[in-house]
Amino acid sequence: MTHDAAHTEIEQLSQQINHYNHQYYQESKSEVSDYEFDQLLKRLIELEDQFPDLKKADSPSQRVGGTITKSFETVIHKHRMLSLANTYSAEELREFDARVEKGLGGQPYEYFCELKFDGVAISLTYRDGMLVQAATRGDGTRGDNITANAKTIRSIPLKIRGTGYPEEFEVRGEVFMPSTAFAQLNEQKEAAGEERLANPRNTASGTLKMQDSSIVAARKLDCYLYSLLGVEGQVDSHASAIQKIEEWGFHVSPTYQKCATIEEVIAYVAQWETKRHELDVETDGIVIKVNDLDQQNELGFTAKNPRWAISYKYKAENALTRLNDVVYQVGRTGSITPVAELEPVLLAGTTVKRASLHNANEIERQDLRIGDYVYVEKGGEIIPKVTGVDLTQRASDLEPFVYVTHCPACQTELVRYEGEANHYCPNIEACPPQIKGMIEHFIHRKAMDIDSLGEQTIKLLYDKGYLHNVADLYDLTHDQIIELEGFKELSVQNLLKGIEASKQAPFELLLFGLGIRFVGKTVAEKLAVHFKSMEQLMQADFDSLVAVPEIGDRIAQSLLDYFSKEENQVLISRLKDAGLQMQVDESQFETSSDVLGGKGFVISGVFEKHSRDELKAMIKDHGGKVVSSISAKLDYLLAGDKMGPAKLEKANKLGITIISEMDFEEMLTKGK
Ligand code: IVH
Repeated sequence: MTHDAAHTEIEQLSQQINHYNHQYYQESKSEVSDYEFDQLLKRLIELEDQFPDLKKADSPSQRVGGTITKSFETVIHKHRMLSLANTYSAEELREFDARVEKGLGGQPYEYFCELKFDGVAISLTYRDGMLVQAATRGDGTRGDNITANAKTIRSIPLKIRGTGYPEEFEVRGEVFMPSTAFAQLNEQKEAAGEERLANPRNTASGTLKMQDSSIVAARKLDCYLYSLLGVEGQVDSHASAIQKIEEWGFHVSPTYQKCATIEEVIAYVAQWETKRHELDVETDGIVIKVNDLDQQNELGFTAKNPRWAISYKYKAENALTRLNDVVYQVGRTGSITPVAELEPVLLAGTTVKRASLHNANEIERQDLRIGDYVYVEKGGEIIPKVTGVDLTQRASDLEPFVYVTHCPACQTELVRYEGEANHYCPNIEACPPQIKGMIEHFIHRKAMDIDSLGEQTIKLLYDKGYLHNVADLYDLTHDQIIELEGFKELSVQNLLKGIEASKQAPFELLLFGLGIRFVGKTVAEKLAVHFKSMEQLMQADFDSLVAVPEIGDRIAQSLLDYFSKEENQVLISRLKDAGLQMQVDESQFETSSDVLGGKGFVISGVFEKHSRDELKAMIKDHGGKVVSSISAKLDYLLAGDKMGPAKLEKANKLGITIISEMDFEEMLTKGK
């Protein structure tokens, strides 16, 4: 491809991607699928890699990250990032209004109300229309430079749309993780046997401070902007600033409203109290601002807060009740979760009897004791949590809390892994909830999808002694199942049919279904594509595992541990004998064609993705010929690592086209 052609294509792709991004975030619609979008981005990155001089600072390829920030540089905010004073009642809002009225000496005024987004404040600086700096709030005076990470957030424009913007200006807003993205992330974590994240706010904040921006890119953060600085004289009200922000391509929540009086503000506050839960962003209140900018200036600031704005905080619904006991749940990975058993109490419309206590550290931090009166809160999370103790009600004879040392299900001594807050039961082979949990994971819709089997049936089969691991599923007989409570001929047939059908589930789903620690669905897919078969994967050593994209030390070690255990080797061999898919279905990735049209190939060296035999088969499948020696008639030399220099020299001399494994794959996909 010529430089000129690349230039034109890069321009077109960038425009297209920017257009779809804008549509998605500003207009909430999408004309292309995620897949098509990713393809455009992939092509752009490919071209920019080939022609690095054509990569522009505002290229949408920056969205995929890749920059590593070792330590975040400190930046001093040009204008301090202040916080708002809080109010908690209509009465306090009226008092604020009285102060505003007095401060403005009888002039008419109006308010602008917005939701208070519960995320991480961010300041974005634009020069000549380009994003030049993104910083966290920090202590208000100095924050961290997180530009590389912020650039991966697709709703933050790298370049301003339209014209008429000042040479330099700043916008501020809130970075957040949409509730749906947070739920998805937690699902992935759970599937991979990792701990769930506590809430979207902390997750957004932790994500923004990650060193590897490509992980940030994968996290689906979003950002609402709500203030504009450095535009003195160009806008006269907050409403018109918001309009400008929207015009310039920023993401603004459509929930704002102008209010003529404080009573209208109070109505807005009431209206959003419950409606806010329908939004895909966590909110914890309302921000009320005097709309006119001259009036804002007149009112000015106290030492900490503006006098022209205030926040109204919704009360997190909480209740006080007695902690009757602490019980422990054992997860499928053996992780122990303490759960508070409470005196039943009404909270936000439902009766709460149990609440999450997270882990031992959390109990210790709060110095909880059985018999204490504790506050239970329904926050951003669905499960209520214990947030504190009312020490004034503590009886004098309450004993300090002692955390369990042995598994409540199998009495094995618990262990704690370095860097993890949870305790674990290490008895993977024989701890009942772990076994049942493993089987439930295996049959799950996202794994082997045996929907004729459920939690209850697994329990019945386990209790009868028929199920100890997932391989036992394939030995179940008609006679064993028919004797289970509630089973009739038809349901037995159904169950057996479901189990039989699962033998055809693709290898990557089986790999995921095994429930190997840290091997979630995506990781399983990556491993399957790379190693192609269980056999190859089981033979892989640490170095070849970490050589797979996105497989880190932790996953590699977990795989090695898993495959080194004899019982797992036996399990896999039983699954193999039962007829489950132990290799990828190549036809899923490649279909044969005649795209290579009789061309001759010499294969030389070692390759990253495919073995030489696989490459040979691929050449033949696509109508090419594999030749053993280099001659003038040869069409391509497929060159891998460690190819002998003599061969290379010969090929060069004869003017033969030398291609890499990637070029070769491209030749095949182009032909599709
Ligand atoms: S305006 C002078 N508007 O709340 C401060 N802030 O306590 C002007 N926040 O640090 C801030 N949503 O992180 C404003 N619609 C909104 C907001 C909002 C959330 C956060 C922001 C700020 C804190 C103020």
